[in-house]
Amino acid sequence: MKKDHFAHKSKSWDMSSKRVKNAKSIADGILKNIKLSKDMCLMDFGAGTGLLSYFVATYVDTIVAVDNSPSMLEVLRQKSDEIECHIEMIEADLSIDKIDREFDGIISSMTLHHLEDTTALLSSMYDMLKPNGFVALADLDSEDGTFHSDNEGVFHFGFDRDILRDIANAVGFRDITFETVSNISKPHSDFTIFLMTAKR
Ligand SMILES: C[S@@+](CC[C@H](N)C(=O)[O-])C[C@H]1O[C@@H](n2cnc3c(N)ncnc32)[C@H](O)[C@@H]1O
Repeated sequence: MKKDHFAHKSKSWDMSSKRVKNAKSIADGILKNIKLSKDMCLMDFGAGTGLLSYFVATYVDTIVAVDNSPSMLEVLRQKSDEIECHIEMIEADLSIDKIDREFDGIISSMTLHHLEDTTALLSSMYDMLKPNGFVALADLDSEDGTFHSDNEGVFHFGFDRDILRDIANAVGFRDITFETVSNISKPHSDFTIFLMTAKR
């Protein structure tokens, strides 16, 4: 049976005000950079308990929350009536599974570093976008490996923006931009969060 790396964190995930604030800052960055509309269907990749979906929901028609953790999706399911758009949940591991759908855009918060093969991930995102569709992906800038107290399931200690830009470019994305959208302070260090946007 596959391991649910987030099973021990799912119930208390939303209780961290830092996580909620971070998701809100990422959503604000997405709203500033992307013109969303009420006819759009987005995927929230690695949606978890839906913190990012919650802040973006008012601006779109449907969010498809994709995550490989049943426990995180269960927390989202329990609060799904508070999310102000249609919400669908798909339990899937995007490093293995294919989702046969097309989206106007793919948003994501703090999930890229959990997948080993970033090129394969961005390539599968590209394939799931409609023409002119967008990605808006937020994650840690390069860090020294101290962001997580336990690095199990962590494949990247953040990302170098230039390397990520080259990968996105090679996959076929255009109009690639980066912006710092959030900052997470921990007692030992501060960590910056980028938002990468790009179009198919
Ligand atoms: C750090 S959490 C972020 C959750 C949420 N986006 C947020 O900002 O609160 C990472 C999420 O990605 C999910 N995840 C990790 N690897 C994944 C994969 N290969 N396919 C789908 N989801 C994955 C985890 O289950 C978890 O819910």
